[in-house]
Parts: sequence; structure tokens; C-alpha cells
Amino acid sequence: MGKLWEKGIKADEDIVSFTVGKDYILDQRLVKYDCYGSIAHAEMLNKIGILSNKEKDAIVGTLNEIINLSEEGDFKILPQDEDCHTKIENYLTEKLGKTGEKIHTARSRNDQVVTALRLYYKDELNKIKELAKNFLDSLRSLSDRYRDVKIPGFTHTRKAMVTNIKVWCDSFIEGLLDDMDMVNAVIYMIDQSPLGTGAGFGIPVLKIDRKFTQKMLHFERIQNNPIYVQNSRGKFEGEIVSVLSMIFFDINKFASDVIILSEDDIKIIAIPDKFTTGSSMMPQKKNPDVFEIARANYAKVVSLEMRLKMLPSNLISGYHRDLQLTKEAIFEAFDITENTLKTISKVMKELKINRKNAEKFVTEELSATQKAYELVEKGIPFREAYRIVAKNLSTPSHKTPS
Ligand code: ARG
Repeated sequence: MGKLWEKGIKADEDIVSFTVGKDYILDQRLVKYDCYGSIAHAEMLNKIGILSNKEKDAIVGTLNEIINLSEEGDFKILPQDEDCHTKIENYLTEKLGKTGEKIHTARSRNDQVVTALRLYYKDELNKIKELAKNFLDSLRSLSDRYRDVKIPGFTHTRKAMVTNIKVWCDSFIEGLLDDMDMVNAVIYMIDQSPLGTGAGFGIPVLKIDRKFTQKMLHFERIQNNPIYVQNSRGKFEGEIVSVLSMIFFDINKFASDVIILSEDDIKIIAIPDKFTTGSSMMPQKKNPDVFEIARANYAKVVSLEMRLKMLPSNLISGYHRDLQLTKEAIFEAFDITENTLKTISKVMKELKINRKNAEKFVTEELSATQKAYELVEKGIPFREAYRIVAKNLSTPSHKTPS
């Protein structure tokens, strides 16, 4: 079967392959969601009298068959199929003839793709919430197990004051809870049904029922303006990825902390050997690569954010093929986020804190501020107390070498 848009003249193969790009591979993960959208659309077409009960049943049955095939990995989109929307419609037409040809009544691939993407995004964001919950649980468990262990807090990558494992863990817990508020906000923002807006300028003549498809697809509300439906493609992706990059902002710092606190001369955190990697040349090395990759993924997600924010820029209102390229970036951002959260939660469950090393590393000068405040309590002005404590500092690192 050919392209949905071919009208007698065969398209140039090179141009088709150039414009399809990776879409036939990327769309593999949208098949299920596109079928959900099509099932709701078919039910609606039945309700308004465009599909008979028999036709609707045949279409819905075949779409369910496609969902099953796709779950089994048996619904392969080939480059010549162009994208999931074309492949699915062609499959319906091959199986059902004229009945299949009715499914595209009152819709365009433009509202169809946005519908499928949004259903997919909602699923992915809910998955991320679950994975973040696991990460939060492992932080809480580490915090509970070692809450009383004192560790140094750093400024300028130099030891500064005494803090403890609980405060350190809680800093990431608070951070992640803020991130989860942002995830919920972005879920709320995208939870709008785009279906029924056609190519971007509504559906003339036919009296479609947008409320019906919105309810059936479990969207919170209808996205009213048809032009905005297309204009929000790229915008919503940018919003989602900027939330993902905030999650990574916290993961990045957490990873850097673990890397320094597990460093050979500090070893407050013990990363189990099975989670470290070695050197091909230096036999003694046990490296924290897992935290380095987790940390670097922040940069990767931010670069995807840049890409997602640039792709839709300067486009006039409405659909443009440029928008197709947003799929690769947003899919990759989801994959990286889920993979990283899964991996660090796994490692976190077995991270250990070495109390002895922590005690050794919390050296006396870290209490200097505390000592100054004790003098303040006795009535000495702070600046004077500061000088008194500074003069009495005995740690070798604070003496000038002779
Ligand atoms: N694969 C296309 C995309 O992701 C589907 C929409 C195609 N629409 C069109 N007018 N060419 O954007």
C-alpha cells in the first residue's frame, strides 16, 4: 500500500526516505497509543452516524488486533510505511476494504500524532513518578539507617562545617519532591485532548463530538483552539524536558557528592565492588563510573532541551514537518531519565556508610564556627570570638608550612 497522501504520482524514493528519517523506527512505540486514539475516534464516528455499528466493530476489533501484535513485537513499521499512522490505516484498509477507508474521516495525521504523543507522554511521566518514588524511598532508607553519622559539609570543595547523613539525604529528598510538583504541573498542562482539531483549523461540515473522545481517552479537558493544538507541539515537549532536566540537576549533584565521599582517601561512602568498574591498566582501580554516567546524563538532557526548544522556533502557526524531529529528542530524554533513576535506585539500596571513616574525616576545625558561637553565648562580640577561635586552630593544615 502507498502513502496516504499519494494522488497518482509516485513520490521520489530519496525524498521519501529523507523526510521519513527515523520516523518508522521511532513510531514503533506510538503504535499502541495511536490505536487508542483511533478506537475513540471510531466510536465517535459511530455515535455521529458516520460508521455503522458493524463497521465500527470491525475497525475497533482490528485496532485491538494491532495493539496485541505490537505488544508481541509483531507489528513492524517499515521505511516504506512512512509512520505508524500510515501503517495502521493501510492495515485497516487491507483487512476491511472500504470500511478501513472511513477511519480517517474528520481527522488529520496532525491531530492524530499529537493525540498519540500526549497519551504516551502521560504514561511516561507517570512511570517517572514511580521511579522517582523508588529513588526517594532509597534515600529515606539510607537517611534512616545512618541518620546520626556526622560528615563534613563542603564549600569551595573544602571541608566547611559538620553536617550529617540525614541532612544530606534530606536535601535530595526535598529537591526531588519539588521536582515531582513540577512533573505534576506538566502532566496537568498536557492533559488536554487535541483530537478533533484536524490539520490545525478544525473540521468543517461534520458535527464531531470532541467531548466524547476527550472522555474516552481520559484527557482532563479539551484543548480548545485548533491552531494552538499544533502550536503547542514542541512547546509541551520543551516543558516536559525542562522538568526532566530539573530532576537531573538534583541527580547530578547527588552523583558528584557520592563520587567525592567515596574517594579512596575519604571512603565515607562505600560503593559495593559489583557496582564499580576497573581500569585496563591500573590493577587497583575501582571506579564510580555509574555515578559519572548518571551525572553526565544531566548535560545530555539539557542538550536535548536545547534541541527541543530550537526545533519549533521561528515556525509560523500551524503544523510543519520540522516538528517530526521533536520525537527523537523527547523519546531519548524519557529513556535516559528512566534508565538513570532505575540504575541509581538499584545502587542506592546497597550503598553503605563507613562510620569510622566519617569520624576520622570530621576533623576538629570543622567545629570552629560552633566554638565561636559558644563564646558569643558568653557575651563576647562575634568578630572577637571569631579571631580568638582562629588563633587557637591547631589543625596542621591551618599552620603555614615552615
Ligand atoms: N510523522 C509525522 C510527524 O511526526 C506525522 C504527521 C504528518 N503530517 C503531515 N502533514 N505530514 O509530524
